[in-house]
Amino acid sequence: MTDLLLLPGDGIGPEVTAQVRRVAGKITPDLTLEERPFGGTSLDLLGAPLSDETLAAAKAAKAVLMGAVGGPKWKDAPRAKRPEAGLLGLRAGMGVFANLRPAICFQPLANASSLKRELVEGLDFMIVRELTGGVYFGQPRFIEDMPGGGRRGVDTQVYTTAEIERVARVAFELARGRRNKVSSAEKSNVMETGLLWRQVVTDLHAREYADVELEHILADNAAMQIVKNPKQFDVMVTDNLFGDILSDAAAQLTGSLGMLPSAALGAPGTPGLYEPIHGSAPDIAGKGIANPLAAILSFEMALRWSLDRADLADELFAAVNRALEKGARTPDLGGAMTTVQMGDAVLAEL
Ligand code: NAD
Ligand code: IPM
Ligand code: MN
Repeated sequence: MTDLLLLPGDGIGPEVTAQVRRVAGKITPDLTLEERPFGGTSLDLLGAPLSDETLAAAKAAKAVLMGAVGGPKWKDAPRAKRPEAGLLGLRAGMGVFANLRPAICFQPLANASSLKRELVEGLDFMIVRELTGGVYFGQPRFIEDMPGGGRRGVDTQVYTTAEIERVARVAFELARGRRNKVSSAEKSNVMETGLLWRQVVTDLHAREYADVELEHILADNAAMQIVKNPKQFDVMVTDNLFGDILSDAAAQLTGSLGMLPSAALGAPGTPGLYEPIHGSAPDIAGKGIANPLAAILSFEMALRWSLDRADLADELFAAVNRALEKGARTPDLGGAMTTVQMGDAVLAEL
């Protein structure tokens, strides 16, 4: 059985996952690794961004680590063939509905954020993004010509009580092991799905999690509060689209989008999907200067959540912190190291 399926993907994906391979080789030499084409790379090679074989291999592995997908080369591909559609198909196919996106400000990087040091120093904030529902998957969706001229585009946001409840449960459980606070972000003031979201979270809280502090926050205000005073948050649970946007904003608190890992989890006993939250970064792809830490920290999350090696995850986390303490910095963090040198810096601490 494959322990870890690597899907390097496109752009900087292969550059950052190559560093994961080196780190895994050192910290878990017995781990069985497999690698498959994914995203645009798979479209070019196999005619589909997510082949049936790759989905089957993902479901059969203990954990899957994806680099990044997409890029200008495939921007005109039909929707279903786009690299991003492959990623959505993978998430849905694996059933990984709860996406944990931790925004942690490593102490040595407190000055690297565009926000003031005192606002981000010590930050440890977890966004739980619903990942397999909402407007990303709702039907109908189309662009059509209108009789009187012009066209219209339609997307549909749908959430069921079961989808909301299972992701909220993940957030409450996580909060119990942290600072015991959940902030639930939606737009119940304008959206029916937002209203249902608020009702379901409120009911679940009253029924099973009354010991956890719960606040409801409108998603636009949440965006503002994340940059105004991020340390007020412990766990934030939100839908697929708001979670996508709010986590990019939260990433910048840690110094760079290149720092934020993620873990996407489904039913107990099923494999997790681990991915840096950044994209294929076409502006720096091929230059060898991408920050590999988000990918390396995604492997750290895989050790913790799927591979049952929390001890090694702690070691890897500490190694990343020590490398940063010693001044390891790629350009996004204000330094001049290459991707490989950043990998070297982490390896030297293991
Ligand atoms: P992006 O995340 O690729 O890049 C945004 C900015 O952040 C760029 O300036 C980039 O250079 C920088 N950046 C990102 N990762 C970095 C890293 N590890 N080190 C240093 N700098 C980094 O977002 P985009 O430019 O909006 O999207 C580019 C492509 O990636 C699109 O096709 C998009 O659909 C795709 N995308 C994929 C994923 C994913 O695979 N999970 C996530 C987001 C975007
Ligand atoms: C992310 C990305 C993806 C998303 C895209 C590439 C489908 O932005 O993982 O944050 O929107 O979920
Ligand atoms: Mn995103």
